[in-house]
Amino acid sequence: MMADSHRLPCTSRLLLSLAVGVMRTASSVAASGDAPPGKIAVIGAGIGGSSVAHFLQQHFGPHVQLDVYEKDTVGGRLATVTVNKQQYESGGASIHSLNLHMQDFVKLLGLKHRREVAGKSAVFSGEQFVLEETDWYLLNLFRLWWHYGMSFLRLQMWVEEVMEKFMRIYKYQAHGYSFSRLEELLHSLGGDAFVNTTQRSVAESLLEVGITQHFIDDVIVAILRASYGQSVLVPAFAGAMSLAGAQGNMWAVEGGNKLVCSGLLKLSKANIIQATVTAISLHNSEGKNFYQVHYEDEEGQGSSFYDIVVIATQLHDKKSNITFQNFDPPIAEFPGTFHTTITSIVHGYLNSSYFGFGDPKLFPFTSVLTTDSPALFFNSMDNIYPVNVSSTFRRKQPQEAAVWRVHSQRPLEKQELKMLFRSYYSVQVTEWQAYPSYESSKTLPPIVLQDNLYYLNSMEWAASSMEMAAVAAKNVALLAYNLWYHDLDKIDQKDLMHKVKTEL
Ligand SMILES: Cc1cc2nc3c(=O)[nH]c(=O)nc-3n(C[C@H](O)[C@H](O)[C@H](O)COP(=O)(O)OP(=O)(O)OC[C@H]3O[C@@H](n4cnc5c(N)ncnc54)[C@H](O)[C@@H]3O)c2cc1C
Ligand SMILES: *[C@@H]1O[C@H](CO)[C@@H](O)[C@H](O)[C@H]1NC(C)=O
Ligand SMILES: *[C@@H]1O[C@H](CO)[C@@H](O)[C@H](O)[C@H]1NC(C)=O
Ligand SMILES: *[C@@H]1O[C@H](CO)[C@@H](O)[C@H](O)[C@H]1NC(C)=O
Ligand SMILES: *[C@@H]1O[C@H](CO)[C@@H](O)[C@H](O)[C@H]1NC(C)=O
Repeated sequence: MMADSHRLPCTSRLLLSLAVGVMRTASSVAASGDAPPGKIAVIGAGIGGSSVAHFLQQHFGPHVQLDVYEKDTVGGRLATVTVNKQQYESGGASIHSLNLHMQDFVKLLGLKHRREVAGKSAVFSGEQFVLEETDWYLLNLFRLWWHYGMSFLRLQMWVEEVMEKFMRIYKYQAHGYSFSRLEELLHSLGGDAFVNTTQRSVAESLLEVGITQHFIDDVIVAILRASYGQSVLVPAFAGAMSLAGAQGNMWAVEGGNKLVCSGLLKLSKANIIQATVTAISLHNSEGKNFYQVHYEDEEGQGSSFYDIVVIATQLHDKKSNITFQNFDPPIAEFPGTFHTTITSIVHGYLNSSYFGFGDPKLFPFTSVLTTDSPALFFNSMDNIYPVNVSSTFRRKQPQEAAVWRVHSQRPLEKQELKMLFRSYYSVQVTEWQAYPSYESSKTLPPIVLQDNLYYLNSMEWAASSMEMAAVAAKNVALLAYNLWYHDLDKIDQKDLMHKVKTEL
C-alpha cells in the first residue's frame, strides 16, 4: 500500500501522512500525582459539545463524570425535517472530504457516507443565469477558464494554500499540542499573515493575488451568499473554507449529520441533562476554582458543581442567556451579532418560467446560487435528497414535484413562494441564528474565560462549520487536560512545524 502511495493524488498522500501522525498520538503522562478532575460540565449538545465530550473522555479517562446540558435537541444546528416520511437536512448539510475530525467520527461510530447523487449548479442574477456548470462541480475547469482566464487557477491555488496551512492543526493536535488563544492557534498554522486572514476580507485577499473583480462579482459573491448568506466582506479565512466547499468533494452522513452528535455522546458515556443552563457561578476553595452550573428543567431549578466547564454554544448576542456570577472582574459581553438565515424546505413543483425556462422539462439545474441583486429575495435554492439514499434512488425530473431547500435572509412571503413554485404541498420553515455576522466584529473572542472555564464557540468567529467546531473541541479538550496537569510544554508552543517534524 505504501509502495503505491506515489500514485495517490496529493490529498490522499496528505491524509496518509496525517493518519501516521494520529497513530503516533503522544499520550502524555499525568504529571506529579495531581488528582484527576471529578466532574466536568459541557453546555450544549451540538457537534461542538458532543465532540468535546468525546475528546474529554478520551483524554481524562473513563472515571471522570461528564454532564452535557442541552435545552433543546441533540445536534443543535445539525437537524432534519421530515417530508413524506423521509428526512432532509435543514441545517448544516455538507462536509468537505479533508475535514479529518468529521471523517474520523464517522469511522469511529460505524456510520457511512451518504451516496452522492449528481446534479448541476448555476448562478442566477434575478434575470438570467450568468454562469452554468457543465459538470458536477460549480468550479468547473473548462467553462470557467473560458470566461475568466487566470482568475480561476489563481483562486484554486489560493484556496489550496490556506487549506494546506489549516491542515497543520491535525498534526499538532495528534501530538497533543493546544492553544489558549485563537491568535496563537492561527499563528502556529501560518504566522502573522495567517492571523490576518481573520481580519481582512476575502475580496481584498483575492484581488491581491490577481483575481479579477468580475470573477469576484459573479462567482465568489454567489458562493458566499450560498454558504454564509453574507458578502465578500467576510474574512478571508472563513471565505477560504466556503470556497473549498464549492470545489466539490463534499459528503454528508447517511441517516443525517446529527447522528454524529448522538453517537459521540453515547460513546463518551456522558449524562445528557435536558435542561436550560441559566447561570454559572464561580467559587473558590483552597485556591482552586470550581463552578456551580444553574439550570432550569421541567421540574424547576437546580444546580451542580464542577471542576471544569466547557461552554459549547454561542454567548454572543446573549444567544444562550447564560449569566456569569461572582466573577471579578466580570466576564464582559462579547461584541458582535449573529446572522439570521431562514431555511424553507418546500415540497412542490418548481416554476421554471421564473428562471426563464418555459418548458419545465428543460430546467437543467439542481442548485441555484445568486448574485447580489436587489431583485432577488433568496440566497440559494437546492433540489435536495433524503438523508437515506437507497441504491435505486434517482433525482426527480424537473417537471415532477421535488423537495427544495431555499435559503433566505427573511421569511419568504406567500407571493414569493408562488414565484419560485407553480404549486406546493408543504413548506417547513426554520429560523437559524446561523453563523456570526462577520462584519459586526473583527475581534476573536477568548477560548479561556477563567481557569477551567472554556468557550468552545469562540472558534466560530474565525470560521463556522462542523469541522471548525470539532477542531475547537479537540483544542479545548487538550488545553483543559494540559492545564489541569500543568503540562505547559503542550500549550502555545512556537515553531511547532519544526517541533512536530523532529518528534516524528
Ligand atoms: C442553515 C445552515 C447551514 C449550514 N451549512 C453548513 C454546511 O454545509 N457545512 C458545515 O460544516 N457547516 C454548516 N453550517 C454550520 C454548522 O451547522 C455549525 O457551525 C455547527 O453545527 C455548530 O455546532 P455547535 O455545536 O458549535 O453549535 P450548535 O449546533 O448551535 O449547538 C449549541 C447547542 O447548545 C444548546 N444550548 C444553547 N443554549 C443553551 C443553554 N443555555 N442551556 C443548555 N443548552 C443550550 C442549543 O440548543 C444547541 O443544541 C450551517 C449552519 C446553518 C444554520
Ligand atoms: C497584518 O495586518 C497588519 C494590519 O493590517 C499589517 O500591518 C501587517 O503587515 C500584516 N502582516 C502580514 C504578515 O501580512
Ligand atoms: C438511514 O441510515 C441510518 C444510518 O446508516 C440507519 O441507521 C437508518 O436505519 C436508515 N433509515 C432508513 C429509513 O433506512
Ligand atoms: C433570553 O431571555 C429573554 C428574557 O428572559 C427571552 O425573551 C429570550 O427569548 C431568551 N432567549 C433565548 C434564546 O432563549
Ligand atoms: C412563475 O414565474 C412567472 C415568471 O416570473 C410568473 O409570471 C408567474 O406568476 C410565476 N408563478 C406561477 C404560478 O406560474
